[in-house]
Amino acid sequence: GEAITVADLAQKLAMKGGDVVKALFKMGVMATITQSIDHDTAALAVEELGHIPVRADADDAESELIAHVGEAQGDQVARPPVVTIMGHVDHGKTSLLDYIRRTKIASGEAGGITQHIGAYHVETDKGVISFLDTPGHAAFTSMRARGAKLTDIVILVVAADDGVMPQTVEAIKHAKAAKVPLIVAINKIDKTGADPSRVKNELLEHDIVAEDFGGDTQMVELSAKTGDGVDDLLDAISLQSEILELRAVAEGRASGTVIESSLDKGRGPVATVLVQNGLLARGDYLVCGVQYGRVRALFDETGGQVPTAGPSIPVQVLGLSGVPDAGDDFVVVADERLAKEVAQQRDTKRRETRLVQAAGNRMEDIMAQM
Ligand code: GTP
Ligand code: MG
Repeated sequence: GEAITVADLAQKLAMKGGDVVKALFKMGVMATITQSIDHDTAALAVEELGHIPVRADADDAESELIAHVGEAQGDQVARPPVVTIMGHVDHGKTSLLDYIRRTKIASGEAGGITQHIGAYHVETDKGVISFLDTPGHAAFTSMRARGAKLTDIVILVVAADDGVMPQTVEAIKHAKAAKVPLIVAINKIDKTGADPSRVKNELLEHDIVAEDFGGDTQMVELSAKTGDGVDDLLDAISLQSEILELRAVAEGRASGTVIESSLDKGRGPVATVLVQNGLLARGDYLVCGVQYGRVRALFDETGGQVPTAGPSIPVQVLGLSGVPDAGDDFVVVADERLAKEVAQQRDTKRRETRLVQAAGNRMEDIMAQM
């Protein structure tokens, strides 16, 4: 029994046979319901279908079949909110992130160098909050286009001395399209000429209605310079996340999304990932985009090593075979062989897609010249 029929596989996945046939077809494997496919192909099909294949302990050939599928299994528990800060140029996004980071992250290790990390989490009186440093709206859009839903809450920063500007409106559109709730941070209230109520009035035109105007959008007046009101913003985030009832499985094989990545001279490929399900641990085998590897080390935002990272926690991963792309997903798999297999299969598929696209572009060039 080195093979499994498509029908049996479908049954194990609790799926319709036709859907498994379709997934196989997408992988370039032509098989009907009654035909058999080998285990490697079956494992890849399971990945293709968004599940995690796990081989059962092989005391007999039959049990070498895929025995267990799905996301990390177990009870859903509350998880921290993941917050992205957006807003018009110079309205104070980075200053706000810096202020929160400076005051809330205990960088206890003496002489510890805080490395740049595109994401961090803070512990407040009301629980943990993770912040993503949005690299710009374009990146937000492309991640969304790739189906990566990273953000639970958008903080819209609007400078009280400048008001609603074009990129403020853009950010509102993005948040609405992604159906992510907004909290408005009316910033720079320390400046002369700051007019928070003008900001609230301008936002009305975009259907963002403050609570004191009878609406349901939390707005917090603050200064990223003096820190006034920043704690109120953290409270507002906690309140919003309670309403959202954010949950995830906190144990088992981790999965999530790459936030940023780079090639470090000394450390090799470095990926900052956001864990979205399960518990990522040192020593895990993972597929990350078209890369794979074994987690050699995990670092938090203070540059300190951590043994594990759970849901909503951003963490730097060392040990990948190459540099993945921002927006790539990652998933922990059973062993290195499977990790490598899945990564290579994905790589082949990605190349094929690019070849087809390139051929298409060439065709258009030729047509244009005719
Ligand atoms: P981009 O990343 O370029 O879009 O800007 P940003 O939104 O990140 O703004 P940034 O934090 O860089 O702030 C722009 C300028 O506003 C800087 O000179 C800050 O020092 C200043 N600034 C930010 N917040 C405040 C504030 O609350 N009060 C005052 N007085 N100045 C502020
Ligand atoms: Mg900035």
